[in-house]
Amino acid sequence: MLCNKQVPANPSRAQALLDWYDRHARALPWRAPRGEPSDPYAVWLSEIMLQQTTVVAVKPYFEKFLARWPRVEDLAAAPVEAVMQAWAGLGYYSRARNLHACAITVAREYGGAFPADETALLKLPGIGPYTAAAIAAIAFGRRAAVVDGNVERVVTRLFAIAQIMPKAKILVRAEVERMAPDTRPGDFAQAMMDLGATICTPRNPACALCPLMQTCAARASAQMERYPVKAPKVARPRRTGEAFYAEREDGFVLVRTRPAKGLLGGMTEIPGAEWRKAGVEPTPISPPFDLRPGAAREKPKWRKLDGFVEHVFTHFSLQLDVFVTKVPVDASTPEDHRWVALHALDEEAFPSVMRKVIAHARNDRAK
Ligand code: ADE
Repeated sequence: MLCNKQVPANPSRAQALLDWYDRHARALPWRAPRGEPSDPYAVWLSEIMLQQTTVVAVKPYFEKFLARWPRVEDLAAAPVEAVMQAWAGLGYYSRARNLHACAITVAREYGGAFPADETALLKLPGIGPYTAAAIAAIAFGRRAAVVDGNVERVVTRLFAIAQIMPKAKILVRAEVERMAPDTRPGDFAQAMMDLGATICTPRNPACALCPLMQTCAARASAQMERYPVKAPKVARPRRTGEAFYAEREDGFVLVRTRPAKGLLGGMTEIPGAEWRKAGVEPTPISPPFDLRPGAAREKPKWRKLDGFVEHVFTHFSLQLDVFVTKVPVDASTPEDHRWVALHALDEEAFPSVMRKVIAHARNDRAK
């Protein structure tokens, strides 16, 4: 949060940036046309989606959500399962749960109008310091320090902040607080983001086109790519597991819903064994459920597919072996599992890794 009196704005840098933004702002679907008021609901929705996700990936989801749920009250009234399903593929699924919870709070406790104040915004589900500042500035024209990864890169370069990340965040924030202007703080915040995304890029920044080039310390010493200074990367741990794709003769697939809490909480999955550290033996190769309608009948025969499915999560990478089987129409339904028609699979809230599993299994079937 900013205190306007104690922190004087730096008018020249901010003005140069705003002039540049007037000419080069990216046309993004959540941005109001110049001079028109922003829709706080659209700003909030876009900012939640943009957390850890690229602009390119977000655009179609943003447009889909806004068409389906044009107001926060519409989103609040939707079943959480529908929201999860619409979110599927965007990743970090706790955001979808919090999005829905936040919509309910705003609809019920604020009469559908988002609060403008950072402190009040921070109390809403899924809204942290970055998002509260972004909404206050972009939707409500409040002066606020909006600092995301792009802004960190711009500012560490501008002031040659050599402290290692994430320690440097405190200095970055202080500089952004000093720079943020009283007028057009939302445009200023978005101009910083656009500058980081299009000019002040991680590699080969286009300094010649930068409105802040004259006052950039990193540029002056020709060491742009040195900033932000990062700790050496540690390798992502690898995990392994199995997915058991069972298809019934009448074209239904066995699925289950993951527990609400934890990774991919509440999403749909193809059943499998628990994911574990790669290299840990023994590898279980039979499914943790039984599809026999009666004890007397034979167990289905599972066939391991060639190759595997690979997916990279933030904190680990996962390699899944996929087993497939075909079962009769009267196969039993294991507890907490259900059968979903092949033509209805798209309506399920499958995370990307499970879509890969299904594609792998069905690709084999097509051979
Ligand atoms: N990343 C997060 N919020 C953004 C915005 N409003 N414009 C561009 N990139 C963003």
